[in-house]
Amino acid sequence: MRVIRAFNRDKFEQDRFGEANKDYTHTAIKVFTIVSFMLPIMTLIMSGTNMGIIWYGAKLISNQTMQVGNLVAFMTYAAQILMSFMMLSMVFVLIPRASASAKRINEVLEMKNSVKDPEQPISVSEETKTASLEFKNVDFRYKGMDELAIDGANFKATAGQTVAIIGGTGSGKSTLVSLIPRFFDPEKGEILINGTDIKTMSQKDVHAKVSLAQQKSVLFQGTVRENMQFGNPDATDDEIWHAMEIAQATEFIHKDEDGLDAWVEQNGDNFSGGQKQRLTIARTLVKQAPVYVFDDSFSALDFKTDAELRHSLREDSQIQKSVVVIVAQRIATVADADLILVIDDGKIVGQGNHQELKANNETYWEIIDSQIKKGDQANG
Ligand SMILES: Nc1ncnc2c1ncn2[C@@H]1O[C@H](COP(=O)(O)OP(=O)(O)O)[C@@H](O)[C@H]1O
Ligand SMILES: [Mg+2]
Repeated sequence: MRVIRAFNRDKFEQDRFGEANKDYTHTAIKVFTIVSFMLPIMTLIMSGTNMGIIWYGAKLISNQTMQVGNLVAFMTYAAQILMSFMMLSMVFVLIPRASASAKRINEVLEMKNSVKDPEQPISVSEETKTASLEFKNVDFRYKGMDELAIDGANFKATAGQTVAIIGGTGSGKSTLVSLIPRFFDPEKGEILINGTDIKTMSQKDVHAKVSLAQQKSVLFQGTVRENMQFGNPDATDDEIWHAMEIAQATEFIHKDEDGLDAWVEQNGDNFSGGQKQRLTIARTLVKQAPVYVFDDSFSALDFKTDAELRHSLREDSQIQKSVVVIVAQRIATVADADLILVIDDGKIVGQGNHQELKANNETYWEIIDSQIKKGDQANG
């Protein structure tokens, strides 16, 4: 509604709605006109039949070839048969409607998931393994597309490390991270979490190993606590507050007011973009996992909050010995990561730390250059 108002499209939308409404009205009037004839016609036929029966029956009775009781019985049978015909005609009205709905429902039910569990998934016990994430020559293509969306991705991160992915919009950052929880299967290559190919695990296991904050912050109607417990229903209040502190969410969710009972509207509409991002980050942290992924989750934060958040996130991941994957657009967000992947057009065109990339990666240098220039203009 706001988009429509802001772009002054009220008239256009009203007309569009009017058009659809008119079309429906037209069809409905046509259909119900036909249907409305049915009742009088049926009554006419029924009464006519009765008249015929009585007229003919009366003659037979007066000739004394039939009993009055038989005539009454005959009339009852005739009425029953005619009623059935009337029902039948009603069914003909309902069948097309039902079949159109059934067709659509079946389309949804028959949709096959392209990602399947292996027949004998291997079970991996978590406690004995140290966290790691590895991509081995991963190629990925969206269904029906000619070009590869991810082309030969190769990297490895181990416990306590932070991997940052930087690149322009549409370069394939979100696509790359969506392969980690196996939302899609790569065309070629392997993705290993804690040394195990994710294709050999059950999807449930994979999802338990990856905690993901998606690019678009999605919150649900309910209390803050309910939202935080979404990935970990057993989380205690202390654990939740700890995650909220790392995510810098205690700035606006205060212990001394409603605290975790604070209300979240549908879509989190009663929070700003940056606040929503911080809450989704906290929710991601409450679900304990060896691999955390934050897809552009810092974009709506101011520089100070961004820096503080990454600092405490880093400390926490080193204590927990987990792997953290951060997707970002700003150099400042990625600069202190252990491994930075520069991605351009689906290819990883450089990897290393900030100093290495700054010294010898052209794309990385271009990103720095463009952001420094922008900063200068803003200052001057
Ligand atoms: N569901 C999809 N189907 C087909 N192409 C897609 C889909 N999602 C993204 N793409 C394409 O893949 C490329 C990378 O997109 P994305 O990973 O979202 O980029 P980023 O997150 O770096 O901005 C883009 O060119 C985009 O058009
Ligand atoms: Mg993205």
